[in-house]
Amino acid sequence: MLRIKADTLTPVTLSVNGRKHRAAIEPRMLLSDFLRQECGLTGTHVGCEHGVCGACTVLVDGVAVRSCLMLAVAMADAEITTIEGLTKHPAFPAVYRAFTEHHALQCGFCTPGIVVSAMAEMTGQTGKEEALEEDINNLLSGHLCRCTGYLGIKAALRDVAHITSPHEESGT
Ligand code: FES
Ligand code: FES
Repeated sequence: MLRIKADTLTPVTLSVNGRKHRAAIEPRMLLSDFLRQECGLTGTHVGCEHGVCGACTVLVDGVAVRSCLMLAVAMADAEITTIEGLTKHPAFPAVYRAFTEHHALQCGFCTPGIVVSAMAEMTGQTGKEEALEEDINNLLSGHLCRCTGYLGIKAALRDVAHITSPHEESGT
């Protein structure tokens, strides 16, 4: 078994979903592995580890990124939001409803990544109907789903695009 000497580890403190997480890690540790192994946030899935499948998508300072392409040690000044953090967002119930009503998932492996991208990039697209299909296709060009054939996901994303006010959608 490979043993890692303590003096090769780097102390880091990352802000994830509004909480500080401290750990001593290898400098080469990926953000996706940090989230899963050090924070226990297993909603961030790991598929290709090459930036292709989108399963590992999280928000870094509000921007959707592939966490398998980022080093955890480089994230010290960033605010990271995972799918677990987004479930607290007021818009989340409406997004959840859209994915449920349109049967937009089967095994669910791709789903957290798509929901993270959708909440970052698709909400509030009302009035841009002519560009909507292109926006949806662009978003899905960064997410692989091996189960659904994408039709349900596309239908859900059309609903997500019309979530203009999280408070209206959630009935609050
Ligand atoms: S695991 Fe990161 S893009 Fe596939
Ligand atoms: S629902 Fe299975 S990979 Fe998308």
